[in-house]
Amino acid sequence: RHPGWPARLGPLRTRAGVVELRPVRLRDGRSWSALRIHNQNHLMPWEPSGVGAWADRHHMSAWPPLHSVLKAEARSGTMLPFVIEVDGVFRGQLTVGNVQRGALRNAWIGYWVDAEVVNGGVATAAVALAVDHCFSVVGLHRLEATVQPTNQPSQAVLTKAGFRREGLLQRYMDVDGAWRDHLLLALTAEEIGPGVVARLVGTGRAAYV
Ligand code: ACO
Repeated sequence: RHPGWPARLGPLRTRAGVVELRPVRLRDGRSWSALRIHNQNHLMPWEPSGVGAWADRHHMSAWPPLHSVLKAEARSGTMLPFVIEVDGVFRGQLTVGNVQRGALRNAWIGYWVDAEVVNGGVATAAVALAVDHCFSVVGLHRLEATVQPTNQPSQAVLTKAGFRREGLLQRYMDVDGAWRDHLLLALTAEEIGPGVVARLVGTGRAAYV
């Protein structure tokens, strides 16, 4: 049983354009590859280290196997792999992963956005849509996020969405070739009141379309 998947979330208007979340598709390969290769310098300092050169790992041919893994996890109920669209164009990804049911009802959230559209409220809108969905339809109780202390934009996104700092995970993840400390931030269902999207709209950070 995997309530809340597949789903389309939004639309929500931001400074950068209209944001929507939709499931990853097999035919996203060309857009995904072009965007990932174009954004290497923007993404590499913050993403888990991988085996092989960036250009090889993000070649179009790498998408079908990656898509299969994401789809299999989505089907089994452990993941919600979304594409972030801005004005109908693939501009990033937001993933809710390691969905745990039972007495934890917890998951992690992660995201990236094309450098061409950053600082326009896209990631914040995407996180808000995902959080509200996870705490309602999906039935989760807690979401967590890990972010490097030097990643100010991502911390700003999480703070705007209501996440609180819970601790420092030392040498937590192999990122860009070294073990990096990460801050642990979290949010539980009790904390969001009428919803994160409603709060963003109420404070003028986003608007209903
Ligand atoms: N110091 C402080 N704040 C900053 C800085 C800085 N140097 N640079 C930008 N910001 C703020 C912006 O002002 C903005 O806040 P505001 O709306 O209050 O002005 C905020 O950071 C960014 O918010 P959004 O515009 O909603 O986010 P954006 O669409 O630009 O995406 C993201 C942010 C996803 C972090 C993007 O920069 C990115 O893809 N970075 C590379 C990959 C990455 O770091 N992903 C996150 C990894 S951690 C995780 O997934 C939990």
